[in-house]
Amino acid sequence: MDSFYITTPIYYVNAKPHLGHAYTTIVADSLSRFHKLMGRESYFLTGTDEHGDKIVKAAEANGQTPQEYTDSISALFRNLWPDLQCEHDDFIRTTEPRHVKVVQEILQKVYDKGDIYFGEYGGHYCYGCERFYTEKELVDGKCPDHLTEPEYISEKNYFFKMGKYQDWLRKHIQDNPDFIRPEQYRNEVMSLLESGALEDLCISRPKSRLTWGIELPFDKDYVTYVWFDALINYISALGFPDGDKYKQYWPVANHMVAKDILKPHAIFWPTMLKAADIEPYQHLNVHGYWLIKDTKMSKSLGNVVEPLKMKDTYGLSAFRYFLLREMSFGQDSSFSEEALVGRLNADLANDLGNLFNRTLSMTHKYFGGVVPRPEDEEIEDVEIKKLGQQAMHTYQDEFTQLRFPRALEGLWELVRGLNKYIDTTAPWTLFKEKDMSRLSTVIYVLLENMRKIAVHLWPVMPEASERMLEQLGIQFDPRKFVLSKEPEVWGLLESGHEVAKTSNLFPRVDLPEPKTPAETAKKEAAKSAKGAKSEKKAEAAFIEFEDFQKLDLRVGTVVSVEPHPDADRLLLVKVDLGEDEPRQVVAGLAEFFKPEDLEGRQVTVVANLKPRKLRKQVSQGMILAVKTEEGMELLTSTGAVPNGSKAS
Ligand code: MSP
Repeated sequence: MDSFYITTPIYYVNAKPHLGHAYTTIVADSLSRFHKLMGRESYFLTGTDEHGDKIVKAAEANGQTPQEYTDSISALFRNLWPDLQCEHDDFIRTTEPRHVKVVQEILQKVYDKGDIYFGEYGGHYCYGCERFYTEKELVDGKCPDHLTEPEYISEKNYFFKMGKYQDWLRKHIQDNPDFIRPEQYRNEVMSLLESGALEDLCISRPKSRLTWGIELPFDKDYVTYVWFDALINYISALGFPDGDKYKQYWPVANHMVAKDILKPHAIFWPTMLKAADIEPYQHLNVHGYWLIKDTKMSKSLGNVVEPLKMKDTYGLSAFRYFLLREMSFGQDSSFSEEALVGRLNADLANDLGNLFNRTLSMTHKYFGGVVPRPEDEEIEDVEIKKLGQQAMHTYQDEFTQLRFPRALEGLWELVRGLNKYIDTTAPWTLFKEKDMSRLSTVIYVLLENMRKIAVHLWPVMPEASERMLEQLGIQFDPRKFVLSKEPEVWGLLESGHEVAKTSNLFPRVDLPEPKTPAETAKKEAAKSAKGAKSEKKAEAAFIEFEDFQKLDLRVGTVVSVEPHPDADRLLLVKVDLGEDEPRQVVAGLAEFFKPEDLEGRQVTVVANLKPRKLRKQVSQGMILAVKTEEGMELLTSTGAVPNGSKAS
């Protein structure tokens, strides 16, 4: 039997789980379930990363010892996953003896081989990142991520000869094009490897500075650098070197990470493995970042989405469906409750929910709830079966390639096709005309296709899928269904048993509280009948003319456009506003415009907006645009005007 091994990053225990952790783990769970359904043996590993400065600091801030602190936060992660129906096969903690043992074995092996040496190193150390920065990497003398001044530290440490494996790694990536996927991240790693000599990696910390770590087996005055320790979890959990699980699963290892930890996974880890004479993993799968209103999630901004709250409000199935449907794997994506509600109402309540409700209630009305025996097929039946086959193939192919939105979109072709099939076959007319033979076939075609849809949805939303199958009178057992055969087989739904009367799995939900000033004003105005206090608030939603005058709206010409190096949705747009030099505006236009679509066009800019950094790039203003159903239109003057003209 084929095997599949999927891992998530082991999460730091210095923060509570949030949407980002939930996404990676839900994707890993969905893949594990998918491969199980495809008839493979799947092993799914997650866990927590518990050593290092960061953790010691967080424990101190919490008034606990590192051990007490890591125990409590690790448990938060471990307890969250079942609530999100993430069924991992193992949960590893880097403080467990089984892990410590393997880390020390590997260190010793690489040391004995001569790939670890002792040397002196001085550098700018950022405690937040737990790494040294070179002068060149600092921005205004500060860490580019934490915007804090690093400490200059000079000390003796152990180094791993990572540079020695640069050529091997480059060749390995060239020979195995999907070693790192999607392609954009493979290219990023290749250009890192081609841009200069790969430095050796400092892999120790003196105990005089940090004791919370795994002691080096060859020097008791040092502990292991947290990344050299953490990455090894992927094999220590399998019982490296002789465990059966290691033998079965390591050759098919798939790591799932976000782009923030690309370098350790794409460069440190394979070179460490090579030095220890271990085969590299099979695939590194890299996804983008969930953003909130186009900005990074961060505790200090207070925009971190708590996964449990979302699930409690909208249901776990809708939450999981949304995450997979919305994010193109590899790209950044914006999370909003409005978008979630939109998908829930359109795809789940309208399309899928309606199909189930209509069909089950027709089965009751026309056949007393019993699955009818199909009779001769007509052209519509043949066509919908063909559509179904195509939809299932698309789903399976795209899912295998981690293109989840395309996979689900493919399956929805069938959901929508079936809703149309109901309209064209008009079962109510067949019933009126007493054509029970045709009606039996139509209802059977619907029910059998619903069974297929429910099975395909199990990886994404196991809870809803199992309930859908239950409503069809089927007890779900992943070993009983082989997804890969589903497009070809027909008629697994037995006739003669009873189905549920209704299926209210996805009731429509209302949009969350209005957010725009106009909506707020409307809502407040409605409330105002209840009291004068609300009236005042409604007025507050309007602005005075003087307020409007504060806006400096200017028209200028776009002189150049570049993609933002760290955010797929953003563009760096240089606009000539008739000033000494063009201004840089960071604009969320990448989804709708190619750079060449913008270059040379006139745009309207809010010119006196306080400059701010968007993912490390300064934005000096905002470009006005209008979002439409099809995409986006620029909001600007209808004819050409001199650059810098003021709108009033
Ligand atoms: N401990 C290291 C990983 C060691 S693996 C050998 C670590 N931990 S972390 O807690 O910071 O987790 C980072 C991971 O969390 C990301 O790679 C991603 O899987 C997930 N996410 C955290 N924030 C995220 C978003 N905003 N969006 C999507 N996923 C992100 O790094």
